[in-house]
Amino acid sequence: MARSMIAIVDLGSNQNAFIARELRKLGVYSEIFNYDVSPEELKNAPGIQGIIVNGGPNHVLDGKNIDVDHGIYALGLPVLKAGYSGSEKADVEAWDEDPSKQLDAFIAKTGAERNWSTQSFIDAEVEALRKQIGSRKVLLALSGGVDSSVVAALLIKAVGDQLTCVHVNHGLLRKNESEQVIRVFKEQLGANLIYVDAIDRFLNRLAGVSDPEQKRMIIGDEFIEVFREEAGKLDGIELLGQGTIYPDIVESGTKTAKIVKSHHNAGGLPKDIAEKFELVEPLKMLFKDEVRAVGRALGLPESMVERQPFPGPGLGVRCLGAITRERLEKVRESDAILREEFEKAGLKGKVWQYFTLIPDVTSTGVRDDGRVDEYPVVIRAVNTVDAMTASVPRLPWEVLEAITLRITGEVPGVNRVLYDLSPKPVATIEWE
Ligand code: XMP
Repeated sequence: MARSMIAIVDLGSNQNAFIARELRKLGVYSEIFNYDVSPEELKNAPGIQGIIVNGGPNHVLDGKNIDVDHGIYALGLPVLKAGYSGSEKADVEAWDEDPSKQLDAFIAKTGAERNWSTQSFIDAEVEALRKQIGSRKVLLALSGGVDSSVVAALLIKAVGDQLTCVHVNHGLLRKNESEQVIRVFKEQLGANLIYVDAIDRFLNRLAGVSDPEQKRMIIGDEFIEVFREEAGKLDGIELLGQGTIYPDIVESGTKTAKIVKSHHNAGGLPKDIAEKFELVEPLKMLFKDEVRAVGRALGLPESMVERQPFPGPGLGVRCLGAITRERLEKVRESDAILREEFEKAGLKGKVWQYFTLIPDVTSTGVRDDGRVDEYPVVIRAVNTVDAMTASVPRLPWEVLEAITLRITGEVPGVNRVLYDLSPKPVATIEWE
């Protein structure tokens, strides 16, 4: 049975992704199209059963009201005109408190099959991957993050040892992360995994560099260099796996975003490398929660599938100022303790993101009746929906105390633990 699809046409709404996710939760696959999509393109979209024209506060572009091509109303497909406040006209249905009910009723009207599920996605994608790849070989930069891990697991299921994974350890990963990648992919799933210990290369290049943007650039650059070298050693590889997901490609054409920090993700490779290969992007139509569900269904461990967001430059942006091995170790160890204590206290999964960072200052302390100069460690914990704004949870005092005792007792050279109470804005989540 072909996959049914309901198209969402973006008429300036900022809720398209939300509506698409709701439809998918109700079992119907959904894709988002820009307002200027042609009737022809919609008509030919595989499995299309209905159209939602989704208006919103951004329906004005360059001073003009935008509108869809009215030809889409003549395709013979059920159309729901809907919108959030700001766009309501007489013929537009407003999304109420429970869009899920409205969507459910619309699905029934379109006659769409509710045949979208994690398993149906995996079955269809494995088949599609086998068809695309044939007997050729695929290369994948496997960071151990959710997206690249799920791509790896899907590719292993589809084409097994035609896949080669390269895992670069840049020395800025959290405690035991590289070990987990090796254990899961090499030992449990039997993947061809090339482990590259590039710790010295990265740390040597970063020595003495304190400007945050320069640090990010060096880490991004060096990663590409290492990957290029490794790829150069391999013969006969025509395809490159990428962990692109749907939010990376959904355009919100009317949004204007200012860049506060350049985000670098190890794994996002530059054009000149990507162009040498044919791309394999099995997750490009999935939202993050769907990616996690696929990973789970493919047997990846919970700790990998539920991993918190982690910057591409890793602990590099949490070891403030010029990175030293000594402070890097302190941030890695304190972060591991923090995560252990959060888990023990049942806070895992209740707080969106939490980690430690280490500033580049020391302060006076006392150990064994003598004066010491040691580093502080800062706890950062935030709740957020989209990482654009964030609030700070009121952590139980006992948990904070337990973490403080353990970090100052177990991590050499740390004499203070601070809790950052600043919401975003005005602070960003990471300190650099
Ligand atoms: P900020 O610090 O900008 O962080 O408030 C927002 C979210 O993004 C994560 N972050 C990154 N993620 N590459 C990433 O993939 C990066 O370079 C990067 N920098 C920050 C951060 O952890 C938070 O979740």
